[in-house]
Amino acid sequence: MKLWGGRFTKSTDKNVDDFNSSIKFDCRLYKQDIIGSIAHAKMLGACGIIPQHESELIQSTLKEILTDIENGSVEFEVDAEDIHMNIEKILISRIGDTGKKLHTGRSRNDQVALDIRMYLRDEINEIKSMLLALMETLVNLAENHLDTIMPGYTHLQRAQPITFAHHLMAYFQMFKRDHERLSDCYKRINVMPLGSGALAGTTYPLDRYMVAKELNFPSITENSLDGVSDRDFAIELASCMSILMMHLSRFSEEIILWSSHEFSFIELDDAYSTGSSIMPQKKNPDVAELVRGKTGRVYGNLISLLTVMKSLPLAYNKDMQEDKEAIFDSIDTVKMCLPVFTGMLSTTKVRKENMYQAAKGGFTNATDVADYLTKKGIAFRNAHEIVGKMVLYCIENDKALEDLSMEEFKQFSEVIGEDIYQQISLEKCVSDRNIPGGPSIPSVSVSIQNAKKVLSEFTKEKIDF
Ligand code: ARG
Repeated sequence: MKLWGGRFTKSTDKNVDDFNSSIKFDCRLYKQDIIGSIAHAKMLGACGIIPQHESELIQSTLKEILTDIENGSVEFEVDAEDIHMNIEKILISRIGDTGKKLHTGRSRNDQVALDIRMYLRDEINEIKSMLLALMETLVNLAENHLDTIMPGYTHLQRAQPITFAHHLMAYFQMFKRDHERLSDCYKRINVMPLGSGALAGTTYPLDRYMVAKELNFPSITENSLDGVSDRDFAIELASCMSILMMHLSRFSEEIILWSSHEFSFIELDDAYSTGSSIMPQKKNPDVAELVRGKTGRVYGNLISLLTVMKSLPLAYNKDMQEDKEAIFDSIDTVKMCLPVFTGMLSTTKVRKENMYQAAKGGFTNATDVADYLTKKGIAFRNAHEIVGKMVLYCIENDKALEDLSMEEFKQFSEVIGEDIYQQISLEKCVSDRNIPGGPSIPSVSVSIQNAKKVLSEFTKEKIDF
């Protein structure tokens, strides 16, 4: 018999039971469901809505059920539909009529909204600490590569010299924003919906604030229809995770390129690469490729959620049960990707010399030659053209700009003197870019110092929680 079976004269078709049931995927909400129910039962007792001793019996039995679930001694049933009714059914099977009082003043609609919010809160905290570990790895790596010169790219063409530290710290900034976005999203998840009932609140004098306090929510939802019918908070999290995966995917793409023979900027550790079943020489960056690939499913989940919610009339609709697999899958994916990505990065061998040679070979100091001419009184546009001709000459003669002799330089411009060699060395090109936010060692050191402050704030935030 279904918990809602009173007005029915037939049992549910077997196919409908399977179709309607969400227990296969919402069983992971068991803990939040039980903790939420304990708070609700406690409040029902405290407000005199059910007798105190019954409230206590419900609470203690729910705790036992939680332990039993965690010990693996509880089996959920498909025809009890979802996690909420499964647990309620078990409660009733253990304490009979008293168990039937738990659902007083509550609906599964506000119950599920509560459970998801509680679940997402926990998961956000886990994702944030994984992200923090990645950010720490980035800072450590950057500190060791302040003077590792590499080409910076635009259009994937060598552009200007930068340092590996500077490149890594660019990702630090992205992940910092991802971390902040997760914290911000958390604020909107952290609102307590119980008391919204099915849609119109309840006639029982529930103490919503007490429940909120019990469950560590700083506030309660302000409109019962909204409390049960929106999933914007889950969509927001799916969006934060999509942006985070976009960043991981770009980084993965670079790792894949850098570890190719053509770049040879890095070598992945054997523990983070895989071989080929046919080609004995292969060492493939599968981890980075999978992170890049899994980004697609995280984006897909975001679109699924947006589409499920699109055009739903207020308030609850069963369509909303479809929110779970999408958001769970994004969470699982992000939580799989982050630690393995961090491990891959921290064990990667950096081929400093190859990075340097690539910066040297790609005319990455051409802008600096033009700037040199400009400082000697030539208008920038003219300087640009002169250097363009120099580059052409170098390509034809297989030379780098700094390899040209004084006679060769003079053919292009009379203003060029011996000081050019010092001015256009890669080291000087980098050290002259000493602007805040630039790649010079002092500039990147400042950004690393700032990053360390951010890391300690984020760590403190974690401890405070
Ligand atoms: N399993 C449902 C969900 O995930 C719980 C809420 C069901 N409410 C209802 N009125 N059928 O959305």
